[in-house]
Order: sequence, then structure tokens, then C-alpha cells
Amino acid sequence: MALPAAAPEPAAEPVVAPGLRLALSLLEEGVLTSRANRSCGSYVARAVPSAGAVYPYEFAVLVMENGAPTAFRIDTDRRTCARLAVGARVTAALDDSVLGVPEDGGALVVTLTRPWLSMRKYGDRGYLYTQLDAGHAAGNLLLAAAGRGATGALRLRFPRESLSELLEAGENCREIHSATLVPAGAAGEAWTRWTVHDETDQELRGSTWRSWLETTCWDSVAAWPEHSGSPSLHSVPAPLTRIRTDRRPSDGQHGLCDPSGWPELIATRSSSKAFTGEPVAADAVWQAVSALSTPLATDLPETSPLSATLVLRSTTDPERDAVYRLRTGERQPERLPSTDEVARACMQQRALAGASAVLLLHVPRTSLAGADSAAGAENLRELGFRCGALGQLLYLGANGAKVGVTAIGGFDTPLWRTLTGLPEDDEILYALLLGSPDDSGIKFDRLAMAHAQNER
Ligand SMILES: Cc1cc2nc3c(=O)[nH]c(=O)nc-3n(C[C@H](O)[C@H](O)[C@H](O)COP(=O)(O)O)c2cc1C
Repeated sequence: MALPAAAPEPAAEPVVAPGLRLALSLLEEGVLTSRANRSCGSYVARAVPSAGAVYPYEFAVLVMENGAPTAFRIDTDRRTCARLAVGARVTAALDDSVLGVPEDGGALVVTLTRPWLSMRKYGDRGYLYTQLDAGHAAGNLLLAAAGRGATGALRLRFPRESLSELLEAGENCREIHSATLVPAGAAGEAWTRWTVHDETDQELRGSTWRSWLETTCWDSVAAWPEHSGSPSLHSVPAPLTRIRTDRRPSDGQHGLCDPSGWPELIATRSSSKAFTGEPVAADAVWQAVSALSTPLATDLPETSPLSATLVLRSTTDPERDAVYRLRTGERQPERLPSTDEVARACMQQRALAGASAVLLLHVPRTSLAGADSAAGAENLRELGFRCGALGQLLYLGANGAKVGVTAIGGFDTPLWRTLTGLPEDDEILYALLLGSPDDSGIKFDRLAMAHAQNER
């Protein structure tokens, strides 16, 4: 139970490389900070939601520093960057991964997941939350870049081994999630609170503390087979799922409107703690939902097996309340779920049962890459990215439409399938609720106990 001595801290240096400044300011805006007015005590609000507010991921940044490609590991809590490797080793790892560092002051931001942080609270389901959370963060980096007038590009389909070795990811129980290329641009001032220190000499670094619990958790994850599509070199801007948008309000706003307004939407988004049960306008929900069609530049195929279903259950326009398949626009004959049924289908998260609308993201089970998968199948990381980034778009759309929103990971798939008439073999990967927010209480989901999955 005794702790080993702490290793000496290397001297802090200022952040000099323009690409690193740019990446840090984008991380601040896209992931780490929030201006939402929150009554959340010691909890530090961020630009993206996370199951249980555990944020099970971190970042590395690769940039040119003094003319040499350099890799930094980013500590987002302490606001420090550790220089890990410089020169030929970095170039070799990038070549093997078919990635590159922009020469002109841009940056490559690598998102790494640390599943243990979520799995220690949520067990195996924490691995799904890890992918969804990382999808929110990586997707929002693209949106924050677009808000600055820059087109970032996200890569998910590349060989990971060499980069993982360079960043010491596997040995520290981290997985490489994605790499986002950020073109050069103005860095603002947000990087000024950060410092750099040198950790290129591995011997001076001392050993990292790690619990056997995390190692055991990591071994359980590593035993799951990884199925990957073939590497793709091109990033194409496309919506992450197909949505028929002809039900949008004819005179209302559509989508997220002008990207110059996105930084404000990002900085002020938050998760509702409860819903009052007051109906919201159907137009406002459709406005929020139309944000899902926002194109993002990724290397994933333009068509995906992922579909969305919207349940409008208590809006101010009852004749529009129905279950909608958003891929086709089709209105389903299902009756609408009662408040009690919503509570049960959300694992008795009673405070949220007054939601006016529910968005479900689902795929046929054979579309999850594996032994007997269908053509066009995607792995859990890719589907999780699509769901997380779509979830982020819905948060921003709801913020713009002035509707409360919260993601929920705690939901009963078979019950939602029955309530919405989805086929037996569809797997629901993510659910989000919309409604009139009541933010007076506490967010149960942030407590140590996993209330959202029946822990009592
Ligand atoms: C994948 C995921 C699952 C979530 N599941 C739940 C949930 O089941 N119940 C809930 O109340 N909130 C849930 N949340 C919302 C988080 O509790 C919330 O993001 C976190 O407390 C941080 O608060 P903020 O989003 O307002 O910054 C979830 C968020 C994500 C991204």
C-alpha cells in the first residue's frame, strides 16, 4: 500500500512551436473548457459531455519544432506537454501510419483512449462509453476548427502499431483512437497557460505508476479481436449518417447555420440534469435534429449502416408526435411511450423521463465488423465515432434551438426496440434525450455510483 518516491520533475519551458500553440488552443476550445453557466461545485465543465464525467481519453500532438518533427504527450489536467521523441523516430512512425505532420505550422492531434477510466465505473459497457466519449471529443475538434474557418480532417483507418509504440500507448494501457490534421491558423491566447518539458531521455523519466487493476482491465480489452477496414488516404466531408430532412420547419433555421457561430454553441453547451415534462415545440426539436446532417471530413465511407430513429412524444404540436425513421423520413405506426415507460427504458433515471423527444442511433448487428459481418460493416471504434460525433452535433443543435439535451448511456435496448418497432437484430449504440430542462438539482450521472446502470 506504500507509494514509490516521485521522480524529479524536468524544468518547464514555454510553448514555442506554432503548431503546438495551435493544437493546444484548439484542444482548449474543442474539448477542455466551457463557459456554460453551471452550478456544479468542484466539477470543471468541458466543451464535450462524457459518461459519468470521466473523460477516458487523452491526446498527443505531433508538430514541427525547430525544423524537426516532434511528438508531445499532452497532460490536459496539469496543462503540460511532455516532449517524447524528435526527428527520425517520429518520421518513421508517421510513415508507417501513412500520416504526416504539416510543415507550415499546422498540427496532427492524436486522440488516445484510456478505457480503464470508464470501465472502472461501468465494467465492459465502459468500453462503449469510451468510444462514444472519444467520438464527441474528436468530432468536436473538427467543429472547433471549422468554427475558426479551417477544415480539419480526421483519420480513423490507418495502421496504428508504430505510432502506438512511439507514443508508448499500449504499454500504458492506451489505444490510438484517431488522428486529426489541423491546418495552420491563428492560435489565439489559450496556449499561454501551458508549459513544455523534455522527456526524450527515457532513463531520466522514472517508471510510471500503474495499478494491477488497470493492467487486468487492459488485458481483457486486448483479448477482443480488432476488425479493421482497409486503410483509406482520403478524407471527404460527408454527413455521418443519412438523414431525410424534409420534415424540418419550412420557415425555421436549419442545421447549425454559419460556422462562425459554432465556437459560441460549443462554449455554452451542457447536459440537462432533469426534464420538467413541459412540452417543447416540435419545430425546435427538428431544428436540433437537422444539425445531424452537418458534413465532417473523415476517411470513413460516405455510406454507413448507422441509422437514427426519433421519438417525438410530448411536443406542443401533438399531431406531429410520432416515431420517425430518419434515414427514410418514414413515420411509424407505433403508439408513443408513456413517461413510466421512458423511465424504465432509461434504467429508472426518473429525473429524465419527462423528455419530449428521444433520438436513438442503431445498426443491424451484422454491421458490426466481425466474423460474419455484412458488407460495409464498421468496427466499434468507427461506429462509436459516428455516434459520438453525431451526439455532439445534436448537443450543439439543441443549444442553438434552445432545447435541453442529455446523452444517455444507461438504456434498455430490448425495451426501446419494442417501444419504437425496431427489428430484433438491431443494436442500439447510443440514445439522447431532448426536452424542457430543469437544472436545479444534481446530475446523478456524475456520482461515483453508476446509477444509470442499476448500481444501487
Ligand atoms: C456516452 C455518454 C453517456 C451518458 N450517459 C448518461 C446517462 O445515462 N445519464 C445521465 O444523466 N447523463 C449521461 N451522460 C451525460 C454526462 O453525465 C455529462 O456529460 C457529464 O456529467 C458532464 O456534464 P456536462 O455534459 O454538462 O458537461 C452521458 C454522456 C455521454 C457522453
